[in-house]
Amino acid sequence: MECVYPGSFDPVTVGHENVIRRLDRMFDRVIVGVLHNPDKAGCFTVPERIGMLESCLKGLEHVEILSWDGLLVDLMKKTGVRVAVRGFRNLSDVETEEAMLRINALLLPGMETLLIPCEPHLEAVSSSVVRQVASFGGDISALVPAPCLETVRNRFSKGIY
Ligand code: PNS
Repeated sequence: MECVYPGSFDPVTVGHENVIRRLDRMFDRVIVGVLHNPDKAGCFTVPERIGMLESCLKGLEHVEILSWDGLLVDLMKKTGVRVAVRGFRNLSDVETEEAMLRINALLLPGMETLLIPCEPHLEAVSSSVVRQVASFGGDISALVPAPCLETVRNRFSKGIY
């Protein structure tokens, strides 16, 4: 079984990493797709996001990372994979995800989206929380995978965000 795990990963969090590690154990091939979220202004460049993902997912046998500038359904068509997986933290996420998966299913009949719950202790973690805590100089070590900490800290220490 193959799946695409799409997201903006701006930046990758311990929540994303946890889901990807669980998918690596369940699927023969996991394509981590770095996509553009039109509702969010980007903080890290796509190469930076990919670099951070690579550094924390090193050694995961079934995982590959790619970026895609377009609709998720077009990435699904290009890869031939028909299952997308999205994580959710709470019911509000489920509502958002439901709207997105219904649209995607209309655009690409036969595409399935599976929702996987995050682990309870990671429920509050999100990329936007990371950006906010880091922008105030707070400690992000519990929120971001260790190999990515330097990249995130450097971005905010330079006052770019
Ligand atoms: O990590 P995010 O920001 O929640 O990821 C959202 C993402 C990037 C998966 C979503 O915005 C997306 O699929 N973007 C590509 C455009 C698209 O296909 N939109 C859905 C149909 S309107």
